[in-house]
Amino acid sequence: MLEEYQLRCVKCGRTFAADPWTIVCPHCGGLLEPVFRRRPLAISWPLFRTRRFGVWRYRELLPRVQPVTMGEGGTPLIQLGDNLWIKFEGSNPTGSFKDRGMTVAVSLARAAGVSSVICASTGNTSASMSAYASRAGMRSFVVLPKGKVARGKLAQAVLHGATIVEVDGPFDIALDVVMRVSGRESGLYPMNSINPWRLEGQKTLAFEIADEIGVPDWVVLPVGNAGNISAIWKGFREMRELGLIDRLPRMAGVQAEGASPIAKAFKEGMSEPLFTDEPETVATAIRIGRPVNWPKAFRALRESDGIMEVVSDEEIREAQLALGRMGVGVEPASAASYAGYRKLLERVISPDDRVVLVATGHALKDPDAFPFPEPVRASSVEEAVERIRGLSS
Ligand code: F0G
Repeated sequence: MLEEYQLRCVKCGRTFAADPWTIVCPHCGGLLEPVFRRRPLAISWPLFRTRRFGVWRYRELLPRVQPVTMGEGGTPLIQLGDNLWIKFEGSNPTGSFKDRGMTVAVSLARAAGVSSVICASTGNTSASMSAYASRAGMRSFVVLPKGKVARGKLAQAVLHGATIVEVDGPFDIALDVVMRVSGRESGLYPMNSINPWRLEGQKTLAFEIADEIGVPDWVVLPVGNAGNISAIWKGFREMRELGLIDRLPRMAGVQAEGASPIAKAFKEGMSEPLFTDEPETVATAIRIGRPVNWPKAFRALRESDGIMEVVSDEEIREAQLALGRMGVGVEPASAASYAGYRKLLERVISPDDRVVLVATGHALKDPDAFPFPEPVRASSVEEAVERIRGLSS
């Protein structure tokens, strides 16, 4: 099922036969990256365009498995200004970009005979994994940081039948649990972004942008465990290697002030992150202190001449409301990309640059993240009519 691929370690450079259960380098424990053994045949934009919009439109560039799919991908690229677009990943089946990766990784897991999947999550991964696992007839186990998962996401995991385990401490502790308990022996297949096959699905976001508006100058996105920035960069790099595009964008990653191990280190000119054990931010999706995919993220930043930006919770809140007033409802982590863009504009990003912001998750995920003003109250139809007349005149 993975004959087209090899796995290459990003740390020691060794290559291995592609196997769904080989998650980290058997030699040095480094992160693995799927690479094609040879150029996939007959791929072209016209071919892709004959197919329904979405992740599997690019099937030659994904594992050859029978898809477990709910029509993920193909999300709207909403134009916000002359040179500004936002990729609205909230339109995915479970309301976040995670579905792109989950459709691929769950399909592969099913093909490999897996019956139980597991993930640590700040919420969206668990929502997505449990939905796709249910669709594939698998059991799902989710390990969550207690009290720090947004209500909408938790509701999804419950609805889709996941077994929920809560741990004291941040996401990083939950991921440690998953890394210890998952594997061939326990039969629990890990679905975090350390799983390279999930990132294969997530790279399709780059394909869709290039197909729709060509290669932008910048792609701006929130960074948590740093899987998505790595995946999107891989997508662009691969397209160029395959001759589908002839240039590359620059990547801009945004982290919240209280959870910015990569951004802080990057700003200091360091080539390794400044881990923190007590990450904190309103953007709970990216409340991560020890991002496992940091080596891939640093490579994406280096290769793309990219940049990292830090935004405060206040700036995230303002950006979320500003997007809301443009009709675009995103959760706080996703608003970080707009907040970061605002800070980078003029200073690093030129107004002439074409920019795509990635809105990673839907506003409905986290309804407690923004204040609800007191509504106008009326105790009768007449009073309601009267008050609306008064307010609108
Ligand atoms: N935005 C949202 C809405 C997310 O849920 C996440 C990650 C990110 C951005 C960051 O992506 O980790 O690839 O850098 N959420 C994970 C989860 C950690 O468990 O749902 P990343």
